[in-house]
Amino acid sequence: MKTDSEIIITLSDVWKSFGTQTVLKGINLSVIDGKTTIIVGPSGQGKSLILKHILGLIKPDRGQVLFEGKDINAIQKKELNEIRTKIGVLFQNAALFDSMTVFDNVALPLREKTVASESEVREVVDEKLSLMDLRGSNDKYPAQLSGGMKKRVGLARALVLNPRIVFFDEPTTGLDVALSNEIYRFFFKTQEKLKYTAVIVSHDVPKIFKLADYVALISDGVIQDCLSPEDFQMSSNPIIKNFVEATMGTIYSSEAMEV
Ligand SMILES: Nc1ncnc2c1ncn2[C@@H]1O[C@H](COP(=O)(O)OP(=O)(O)O)[C@@H](O)[C@H]1O
Ligand SMILES: [Mg+2]
Repeated sequence: MKTDSEIIITLSDVWKSFGTQTVLKGINLSVIDGKTTIIVGPSGQGKSLILKHILGLIKPDRGQVLFEGKDINAIQKKELNEIRTKIGVLFQNAALFDSMTVFDNVALPLREKTVASESEVREVVDEKLSLMDLRGSNDKYPAQLSGGMKKRVGLARALVLNPRIVFFDEPTTGLDVALSNEIYRFFFKTQEKLKYTAVIVSHDVPKIFKLADYVALISDGVIQDCLSPEDFQMSSNPIIKNFVEATMGTIYSSEAMEV
């Protein structure tokens, strides 16, 4: 059972409209500390919007977003910024700065959000780059990297402040199966090492079901259910059943992800 002390983030009856389009129609979701929650659902359903609400980038029209029990829309900006530094984010397309080297891209959050000295920055950045097998790429620019390498740089940057929580928005978009697998392998390797809570958003087929602790399906503006992968695949909810049947491709097992 999920107890309150294990819940790190709660969305409670979150509604959001843009003009006449109501996207979120009462989202209820709990993110459990130290676990991996995957939010799945068709494109355009509001998956990225949920992450933006948790980061406080967008305010709900109605409902609450709680971080460790605190309503993030009712706290001071300073406190919200502190929460944001606890969350590492890897957006779609990695969003690297093209004019900056790999090293400078990864160093950016340290330079912007901490008072680390340059030698401390170097130490942390080198450690994260070597975790991602990116040693020797320090001085390269994003344009010189393969798609998989760019994602790894994005992941290194998302992890550079040792976040408690990592958001992955469509982490494998644009990658083929082998590279997607590689990204997930790096992701789970670093999660094991750094013990962060993960929220992964994907419109992809549920390839990574077996690696998730919880799978939540968003459809028709609500979270249909948030279940273990096994229970999700066995769900009698017709919307979840349809989703599972329509999208179930290869299922990666945790054994197949061993490095
Ligand atoms: N800032 C915004 N202004 C207007 N419409 C938005 C905004 N953000 C999201 N939307 C709309 O909300 C819907 C859900 O968006 P999104 O969360 O990006 O979907 P998903 O990530 O599930 O593909 C889309 O129809 C999108 O156009
Ligand atoms: Mg999205």
